[in-house]
Amino acid sequence: MTLDSSRLHLAIQKSGRLSQNTRELLRGAGFRIQEGKNALAARVENFGLDLLLVRDDDIPTFVGDGVCEFGVVGRNVLEEMALDEGAAPVDLVAPLGFGQCALKIAAPDATAYEGPQSLAGARIATSYPNLTQRFLNQAGVQAEIVKMSGAVELAPRLQIAQFICDLVSTGATLEANGLRPVDTVLESEAVLIRTRKPLSPVRAELAVQMLSRIEGVLATQESKYIMLNAPEEALETIAAMLPGAEAPTILPLAGRPGHFAVHAVCKESVFWETLQALKNAGASAILVVPIAKMMM
Ligand code: PRP
Ligand code: ZN
Repeated sequence: MTLDSSRLHLAIQKSGRLSQNTRELLRGAGFRIQEGKNALAARVENFGLDLLLVRDDDIPTFVGDGVCEFGVVGRNVLEEMALDEGAAPVDLVAPLGFGQCALKIAAPDATAYEGPQSLAGARIATSYPNLTQRFLNQAGVQAEIVKMSGAVELAPRLQIAQFICDLVSTGATLEANGLRPVDTVLESEAVLIRTRKPLSPVRAELAVQMLSRIEGVLATQESKYIMLNAPEEALETIAAMLPGAEAPTILPLAGRPGHFAVHAVCKESVFWETLQALKNAGASAILVVPIAKMMM
């Protein structure tokens, strides 16, 4: 593959969970994507940028080797690949605020789980052997990892493994297979990565322009306005848990002494896990709303 040396190259997932949102982000940043007959690449008409449409697992390698200067990939794939011996390192530019999911340990409904020690001596099927091993190491637990490249959720039923470690987004796949999530190995979302190989002056200039456009989109997209109610004794804990928020507004609730409304601008992604944690800490009536424009 020979690539135009006067243009930038961004590796994106050809099809799958990230491809639609990635294209939307690029369109939002004003890049007009020319959908051609070429299944491997797409040209941006109004900017010196070409998109390479590849398998997500290949993106860290393309970017690491400098074949593409940039890439959009899930943190899960990035971190799994980074743990491979001899992988060329890349730099993480920014999380992109979509593709939220988590790499989780899951078990059949009938299998007990009381923490990582329940995995001792068990077989765990996964497409993420490195991250699973790291999780086991950190917990000081020994288990056998069974590497599978797909259909991991079938492993318990086929008696290949007692547990699986797989990506969970909506949770529908687990549910359909009689599995439940029991532990979290890694929180993930789409991230923009860049090569560490030096860029030519032409590409370096294009990179500055491309990044500032993408940052512009992210600045409003990432931020959320969060509102919740909380009892007084939970206020301090809850304020500390709000992602990327400074100085929340705290107002007494009419007719409910000792209860307050907490309002804050969160400048980081607000995950479902965060909402659950807030709820566990005593928050109720949690609302997360998008912000259209913002001037600080
Ligand atoms: C993941 C995972 C499950 C599914 C879970 O695969 O392996 O099959 O998504 O999603 P759900 O919780 O919404 O049901 P992915 O789409 O990443 O495909 P890939 O492993 O081929 O990249
Ligand atoms: Zn994949």
